[in-house]
Amino acid sequence: MDSQRRYSIAAIGADGIGPEVISAGIAVLRTLADALGGFELEFEEYDWSSETYKKTGQYIPDGGLDELRKHDAIFFGAVGAPDVPDHVSLWGLRLAICQTFQQYANVRPTRILLGTQSPLRSCGPRDLDWVIVRENSEGEYAGQGGRSHRGQAWEVATEVAVFTRHGIARLMRFGFEIARQRPRKLLTVVTKSNAQRNGMVLWDEVAADVAKDFPDVKVDKMLVDAMTARMVLDPSSLDTIVATNLHADILSDLAAALAGSIGIAPTSNLDPTRRNPSMFEPIHGSAFDITGKGIANPVATFWTAAEMLAWLGEEAAAAELMICVESVCEAGIVTADLGGTATTAEVTEAVMAEIRRRHDKSEGKS
Ligand SMILES: NC(=O)c1ccc[n+]([C@@H]2O[C@H](COP(=O)([O-])OP(=O)(O)OC[C@H]3O[C@@H](n4cnc5c(N)ncnc54)[C@H](O)[C@@H]3O)[C@@H](O)[C@H]2O)c1
Repeated sequence: MDSQRRYSIAAIGADGIGPEVISAGIAVLRTLADALGGFELEFEEYDWSSETYKKTGQYIPDGGLDELRKHDAIFFGAVGAPDVPDHVSLWGLRLAICQTFQQYANVRPTRILLGTQSPLRSCGPRDLDWVIVRENSEGEYAGQGGRSHRGQAWEVATEVAVFTRHGIARLMRFGFEIARQRPRKLLTVVTKSNAQRNGMVLWDEVAADVAKDFPDVKVDKMLVDAMTARMVLDPSSLDTIVATNLHADILSDLAAALAGSIGIAPTSNLDPTRRNPSMFEPIHGSAFDITGKGIANPVATFWTAAEMLAWLGEEAAAAELMICVESVCEAGIVTADLGGTATTAEVTEAVMAEIRRRHDKSEGKS
């Protein structure tokens, strides 16, 4: 009997360095699946990008989202091009997927990988180990607002921050579940409820309600401005962090920088109900300044691939991939953003070689 577990993955490299890092990620995932056995990954690549948009007026063709729905997961690069406004590209592709598939939990693990360095003096690998849980469907990114009196001196624009009890509660519950699974069982809820006295106060109230169901999790509350200082000055005091769409978007870039580089940071856009496929992507964007140079750091995409495997139920393979990635970093085979000289291809080859070295029984036989 064929007992292979099979997963169908939609791959969307999209723009800039996106296709470079996604093809590196696919190569590494194929090597890992071959070496470990037990599961298979089938990739279907979609060429949806700003180029497609410029040619057809659409990022996603008619019926495209239904196509995506048949996959077990989506492996995404980055969207954004210098000649398309960023709000058009973001809403046309990435947010169109996140919102349609109710990927309301955005999970961003951050730690200092072995062999890499934090810009924080005396902050070693165990001193910074966080999971940021970002609300991914509401807040300032809900798409509410408008512009009137365009071009007039009295032009007005609103970006309405939307917070619902339902949206906050489901995200908060998910954040508590993550905190509970981690050894420290510590959750920090970030808001700005001193100044934003409606939506953010609702956040605080819902957090207090949900906390009653998780008596084993220690809860801690921070205002977002003070949180930036705490992340820099006392990183080891934090573990799991829950924040709004906008606040967590900003805090997670700071987190990535504190962990060494935006080039290593992964993110998962999850539908925790599992009714729709979830989407996995590095947190960085298209990086126009390094596109086509072959120097993009693929580690964020490898870590993203590990997060995807874990979500699919292949936790052992995910852990193995991270061991191989960290071994390569420890060996000093890193790209320029981490202070090295290796290219994307060299880091990718090194990770594949490490996977084969550790697992491929046929290695060395000829
Ligand atoms: N999820 C997404 O698709 C996403 C996220 C952020 C930005 N964007 C888009 O990307 C475009 C560029 O945005 P930006 O410049 O603000 O952010 P960016 O993440 O693309 O780049 C910021 C800086 O980090 C560097 N960098 C990023 N990823 C790297 C990697 N893997 N290896 C080495 N260096 C890396 C870049 O070279 C650049 O100097 C914009 O169009 C923006 O809208 C898309």
